[in-house]
Amino acid sequence: MSLYGLLAGRGASGFGYGSTATDVTEGLSLAGQSMLVTGCNSGIGQETLRVLALRGARVIGTARTLEKAERACAAVGGQTLPLACELSDPASVLGCVAAVKHAGARLDAVVCNAGIMALPELQKAHGYELQFFTNHVGHFMLVTGLLAELSVLGRVVVVSSSAHRQAPRAGIEFENLDGSKGYSPWSAYGQSKFANLLFAKELARRLATSKQTANAVHPGVIKTNLQRHMSAPLSVLFNTFGPLALKSTAEGAATQVYVATHPALAGVSGRYFADCNLATPRADADDAALARRLWETTEHIVAKLRAS
Ligand SMILES: NC(=O)c1ccc[n+]([C@@H]2O[C@H](COP(=O)([O-])OP(=O)(O)OC[C@H]3O[C@@H](n4cnc5c(N)ncnc54)[C@H](OP(=O)(O)O)[C@@H]3O)[C@@H](O)[C@H]2O)c1
Repeated sequence: MSLYGLLAGRGASGFGYGSTATDVTEGLSLAGQSMLVTGCNSGIGQETLRVLALRGARVIGTARTLEKAERACAAVGGQTLPLACELSDPASVLGCVAAVKHAGARLDAVVCNAGIMALPELQKAHGYELQFFTNHVGHFMLVTGLLAELSVLGRVVVVSSSAHRQAPRAGIEFENLDGSKGYSPWSAYGQSKFANLLFAKELARRLATSKQTANAVHPGVIKTNLQRHMSAPLSVLFNTFGPLALKSTAEGAATQVYVATHPALAGVSGRYFADCNLATPRADADDAALARRLWETTEHIVAKLRAS
């Protein structure tokens, strides 16, 4: 546990900054449930895979390659199914969707965990800025492709970040999704994480007549491979003070595992969580028209990709 985690209090849920994924599932049996986690081979995704399997769920762990997914799944006990899902490659995402359907899994939770952060130079996939494409478009394709597989009480958990506050003032720069009108590593990351939040909100709205839910989370700040592109002075601060202030991966995985599994959250949808409690995102995260526009724009992107 991090030093701060030892000192921090708990919120209304009974959990807080220092709660771990193991803590929030204490006494819970997930036997008979199936759950999917993207980015299961590293960081908080790996811990999410481990704890969901520990509690008895059958966990579909996806990674960019089958080999990475297999290694991650082999490292945890329990029932797992490794699958490839390279989020920047629509063919791989569609292959993953087909494999999940083939496996006949009814999904009780989908944890959209995989992500990349603050690429120093503009990179693109299929003509779109790579963080937007990987973090948002790839997960949009995966989740919308699997909606028919979501169980009656199924939960979609989209791993956003408090960095969604660094998104451009407009929230989403619809005229600059390729980055050609300007690129900033942190603003682009913020935009992709804001897109994660809007996606969860709009999905929740679309699921509102069912008992299925969609929520977004900020996991906390955790030292993982995510910071691989971080440069000085931020990286120096991060490495120096990290061990004192940052969450451990066990604490970092807690919020998404809590939102994916905890009985207290049955029916809770369209919300944003941090430290295993309800949290308040940037005000325009509640802009329903913006969320709908992003959904429709992404649908259009996906349709174009499928046709090409
Ligand atoms: N760590 C933090 O402080 C923090 C804070 C706020 C939010 N988050 C969010 O938490 C999530 C997990 O991050 P983490 O800290 O655990 O980072 P991590 O250790 O770097 O793990 C990220 C995972 O995403 C996978 N991934 C990256 N690009 C992918 C792609 N194109 N297709 C499929 N998978 C891909 C990675 O695969 P490879 O290993 O093959 O690259 C890895 O499995 C991310 O969504 C991140 O934005 C993290």
